[in-house]
Order: sequence, then C-alpha cells, then structure tokens
Amino acid sequence: MHPILTNAVKAARRAGTIINRASQDIGALQIRSKTYNDFVTEVDHAAEAAIIETLKDAYPDHGFIGEESGDTNVHADNVWIIDPLDGTTNFLHGLPQYCISIALQQQGQLTQAVVYDPNRNDLFTATKGRGAFLNDRRIRVSNRAKLQDSLIGTGLPFRDFTHLEAYLGMFKDMVKKTAGLRRPGAAALDLAYVAAGWYDGFWEIGLSKWDVAAGGLLIQEAGGMVGDFEGNEGWLETGNIVAANPRVFAQMIQLLAPHLTEQLKSR
Ligand code: IPD
Ligand code: CA
Ligand code: CA
Ligand code: CA
Repeated sequence: MHPILTNAVKAARRAGTIINRASQDIGALQIRSKTYNDFVTEVDHAAEAAIIETLKDAYPDHGFIGEESGDTNVHADNVWIIDPLDGTTNFLHGLPQYCISIALQQQGQLTQAVVYDPNRNDLFTATKGRGAFLNDRRIRVSNRAKLQDSLIGTGLPFRDFTHLEAYLGMFKDMVKKTAGLRRPGAAALDLAYVAAGWYDGFWEIGLSKWDVAAGGLLIQEAGGMVGDFEGNEGWLETGNIVAANPRVFAQMIQLLAPHLTEQLKSR
C-alpha cells in the first residue's frame, strides 16, 4: 500500500473507533441542526478532529477541507478532503449504513482515496494509477451492458428542494428503465458500491466535495466513469454526479438529458 494511503487508512480507522463507540449510546448524543434537516453531533466533530490530527502529524504542511471544521491551507499542493461521518441521519437513527470518507488532492488531482464502513469493516481504497481495492481484494465496476438490467443507487433530496421537480422527473424515468433503485443514505458508500460492481450506477444532485472525492477516485480506479449530468468534468465542484460502468454511464447520461434545467447543465 502507498505510504500516504497507509496514513489515510490509519486516520479512517481511528474515526471508525470513535463512531463505533458512540453508536453504543446514541441517546446520549447532543444533536444540533446546522440548517434544515442537516444534523451534526459531537461524534462528527471528534471523528474529524482525530482524522486531521493523524494526517497533520504526518504531513504538517498539507491543507484540509473538512465538512465540520472547514478549510485550512487549501492552496497547499496537497489538500485532504474529509467527511468524518457520511450518513449522519442513518447514524442518529441507529441504522448501520454510514462511513468515513477521506481523499487526497495533489496539485488539483485526486490521488488517494479511503471509504471505510465501520459496521461491516469494509475498507475501500484507491491510489491513482494503482487500482481500487476492498480490503485486500482488487475491485472492478460491473460489466452489465444495459440500463434496463441495472441496479442503480441514488440520493433523494431532503434538505434543499431547489431541484426537486427535475429530480422527480429523473427518478420516474429511472424507475421505469432500470432493474431497481436504492437509497441507502451515505453517498460516499454508494460510490464505493459502484466501484465494487454492486451497483451498476449512481446519480445524485448537489453533493458536497467531501461526499464524492474519495468515491469518485475509487470508481475511476475500478474502471468506471464519473461525470456531471452531461458526462463532463466538474462533478467535484458542482456535486451533480453520475457514476457507472462505461456502458451504463452513457445510457444514464442519455436518460437524464431531457430533465436538465440550465442550472443542472455543465458550467
Ligand atoms: C449526506 C449523505 C446522503 C446524501 C446527502 C449528504 P452527511 O451526507 O451522503 O446520502 O444524500 O446529500 O449530505 O451530511 O450525512 O455527511
Ligand atoms: Ca452533514
Ligand atoms: Ca456526507
Ligand atoms: Ca458528514
């Protein structure tokens, strides 16, 4: 394993220990709402602090973009993009579907990725140019050829309803033209599932950088494609993301096209 990835894994496992311990007594947590339906607890903060401390010890001059602690030194050559607990709503309900997502961007390029599921102890990792792995096993996207036969993941809007109508239009077509849709509730884990070939594709509107950075690299290293709703780059910035095996990717882009408002097109 690349030495930088080893440190990222160490950081993710430390966060996992904090989250697992807290999951034993979720009733004791102080829940705060950042905006409508956007919850955060001391666990999110403690997990992020542990990740940043681990990485800062090893790399004092690196920058950080963390969901809970914001941006530090983001013009550095090396910037870590961190979601310490992706799927907080699931976590708060005791639903064991959440993860830790950590990615490294070097001179603007994603180079290292970790998505760690502390419930199943599933560790998804990738290093640019070296493939994607689940624990010690190499993973690849699926080779399903038709959207009609595909299992597709998604995320439903739940706090920002700007694009609700467009989303529902997409959803309706996907319901009719796929083998099934899933909405487990942790975007980074959803993307890891595309990399593992468990889903054939995934799409969601308006995710944040920390939701998609690690999962995006995992998929590319597993032979899949990641794009915005027109199949272009820019998904990391806009958070409008389509990801799939190459054949299903093209069919998803085609299906989404009639539903794109000006705001949802490539910028
Ligand atoms: C959320 C989850 C969810 C997605 C939301 C994200 P959080 O992240 O990934 O699946 O639909 O858009 O914000 O807030 O639990 O880290
Ligand atoms: Ca959040
Ligand atoms: Ca998230
Ligand atoms: Ca989070």
